[in-house]
Amino acid sequence: MTTTASTLPRVQLGQGLEVSAIGLGCMGMAEFYGVPDEAESIRTIHAAIDRGMDFLDTADMYGAGLSEEIVGKALDGGRRERVTLATKCGLVRTPDGVRIDGRPEHVARAVDASLRRLRTDHVDLYYLHRVDPDVPVEESVGAMAELVTAGKVRHLGLSEAGPATIRAAHAVHPLTAVQTEYSLASRNPERAVLPTVRELGIGFVAYSPFSRGLLSGEITGTDLGADDLRRGLPRFSEENLPRNLELISRIHALAAQVGCSPAQFALAWLVAQSVVPIPGAQIRAHMAENASAGTVRLSAATLRAVDALAPAGAFAGERFPAHLLAMVQED
Ligand SMILES: NC(=O)c1ccc[n+]([C@@H]2O[C@H](COP(=O)([O-])OP(=O)(O)OC[C@H]3O[C@@H](n4cnc5c(N)ncnc54)[C@H](OP(=O)(O)O)[C@@H]3O)[C@@H](O)[C@H]2O)c1
Repeated sequence: MTTTASTLPRVQLGQGLEVSAIGLGCMGMAEFYGVPDEAESIRTIHAAIDRGMDFLDTADMYGAGLSEEIVGKALDGGRRERVTLATKCGLVRTPDGVRIDGRPEHVARAVDASLRRLRTDHVDLYYLHRVDPDVPVEESVGAMAELVTAGKVRHLGLSEAGPATIRAAHAVHPLTAVQTEYSLASRNPERAVLPTVRELGIGFVAYSPFSRGLLSGEITGTDLGADDLRRGLPRFSEENLPRNLELISRIHALAAQVGCSPAQFALAWLVAQSVVPIPGAQIRAHMAENASAGTVRLSAATLRAVDALAPAGAFAGERFPAHLLAMVQED
């Protein structure tokens, strides 16, 4: 790990791609968690870049293109070359939710639309958002590899892929990153995905590092907005949330002992697992707090205390409802 002038160390994913040790998730800038504020989101992206938090994560499905448009606006006028820009294809919005489309012809069309919205001629890291059960992953990744040859994309990744899929895709084109939900509350990748990516030299990007805000300390009850995605997530249900908040209050006590905020503790724990978290932050104050977590180091004793307090499976409720859980691969 090397340190630059910014407070954020830099780390390598696979294939030599260097990124800030903590990235910026841009999904909530478009939808899902409360009312989006485009002007503040753009200010947040600018401030993040200035602090060296220059690994930006978006996807074509967030806000049906809106997140990519906001990122494109923020980077227009000279900031594009200062960031590592990641986006994703393969999840398509439908009137009642999403469907997976990993067909090569979809991949080829999707990238051009993303490049237009992002106002750039290339994506640094292009992920398949979900593996299509009806399309061999070799075909989806084969189409993505053609985008590398065409210069539209520099590096490839998968999101929510299991070990066998990762190996099959990596044999078609060397993968740079696998992005999967991973946090103090969602430890499933430790079973099989993390050992696989480590063996193959692929980086691991941890999304929803606060379990969608839960671990950050700002969620205290189920009074979420009418459109808030978390209303439909089992961990936030009337039954499970109080149990999870009780567990979180004990994790927060550990953070207080370390002398950092709950959000910083959740990120420092992920950095200690040698993964790259991409916390979503719409507002500058959150982003700045998260960037400062890059200098928080947790001792071996603190990591052991976390394992004793919140071992895998300690949180109540799955990370997704059944229909969305059916779209992810774990083992
Ligand atoms: N590959 C996939 O399938 C997938 C799925 C989901 C997400 N992702 C990616 O991962 C990124 C992060 O995940 P996420 O947004 O779902 O969840 P998250 O990072 O776990 O939580 C985001 C929430 O935490 C709040 N927050 C951020 N920093 C905070 C702080 N310091 N203190 C208190 N609250 C704070 C945010 O508020 P504000 O926004 O108001 O600042 C937002 O409500 C997304 O933006 C997206 O790029 C990928």
